Amino acid sequence: MNGHPSIDPQRVPHHIAIIMDGNGRWAQQRHRPRLYGHKVGVESVQEIVECARDWGVKVLTLYAFSSENWKRPEKEVGGLMSLLKAYLLSELSKMLKNSVRLTCIGDIPRLPADVRKVLQQTIKETKNNDKLILNLALSYGGRLELVHAVKGIAAKVQENSLSPDDIDEKLISEHLYTAHLPDPDLLIRTGGEARLSNFLLWQASYAEICFTDTMWPEFRRDAFAETIAHYQGRERRFGRTSAQLEGN
Ligand code: IPE
Ligand code: IPE
Ligand code: MG
Repeated sequence: MNGHPSIDPQRVPHHIAIIMDGNGRWAQQRHRPRLYGHKVGVESVQEIVECARDWGVKVLTLYAFSSENWKRPEKEVGGLMSLLKAYLLSELSKMLKNSVRLTCIGDIPRLPADVRKVLQQTIKETKNNDKLILNLALSYGGRLELVHAVKGIAAKVQENSLSPDDIDEKLISEHLYTAHLPDPDLLIRTGGEARLSNFLLWQASYAEICFTDTMWPEFRRDAFAETIAHYQGRERRFGRTSAQLEGN
C-alpha cells in the first residue's frame, strides 16, 4: 500500500497534527460506554499512523490526552492510561519494522509510573528510526508548555547564561516540548467541534486547519486522504499576496 489516488505525493504535508476528538459521543450514539469509543479509536490511530508513514508524512502529532483531561472521571482516565500502555506494548514491533520513531510532548512526569516506563522504553528502542516521527501529546496543554518554556528561559537569564536580548522566536521555539520538531503544516480536528482546546498554540500559528464532523473512531484512510487533498487545494500565503507567490 503506497499513496492514495486523491493526494499528490509530491506535496504531502511534512507535519500533520491531529486533535482526535469524538470517541465518547460516537460510543454513546451506539449505546456503548465511552471507553468502547476510545478502544475503537485506537484502531483509527493504527490505521492513520500506517497511512501517514506510507504516504510520506514525516511527523504525525496526535493529541491523545490533554492537561485538562485529568478532570474526567477517574475510571475514564484510568481506562485511557491502560489503553495507552497496551497500545505502546503492542505496536513496538510494528514501529521497528516500519521505521517509526516515537516521541512525546507534555507534562510527562504526571503520567502513572508504569505508563511512563513503557513510554520511555519505546522512545529509546525506536530512536534511530527515520521514516516517520509519531509524536504523542500526553498530559499536554499549550499554555502549560509556554509556562514551562518561560521558566526554562528565566532560569538561564538568572544564571547569566542568557541575556534578555537573546530572546527571540527561535529561542522560544527551542524551549517548547516540540523543540525537536518543525511546526505543523496541517492541523486536523475530528468530532465536529471548531476549537483548539489548548493544542499547539504557538506552533499552529500558520498551520492550515481542517475541522471535520467525522468522529475519531470512524476517521480512517479515505477520510484522512480527503483532508490532505483539501490541504493541497489551499494557498499558503504567510502574510503575502497571491501575486507575490506566483512571482516566486
Ligand atoms: C477524544 O474523544 C479522546 C480524548 C479526549 C482522550 P472524547 O473522549 O473527547 O470524545 P467526545 O468529545 O466526548 O465525543
Ligand atoms: C481535546 O479534546 C483533547 C484531546 C483530543 C486529547 P477534548 O474533548 O478534551 O476537548 P474539549 O473539552 O471538547 O474542548
Ligand atoms: Mg471531546
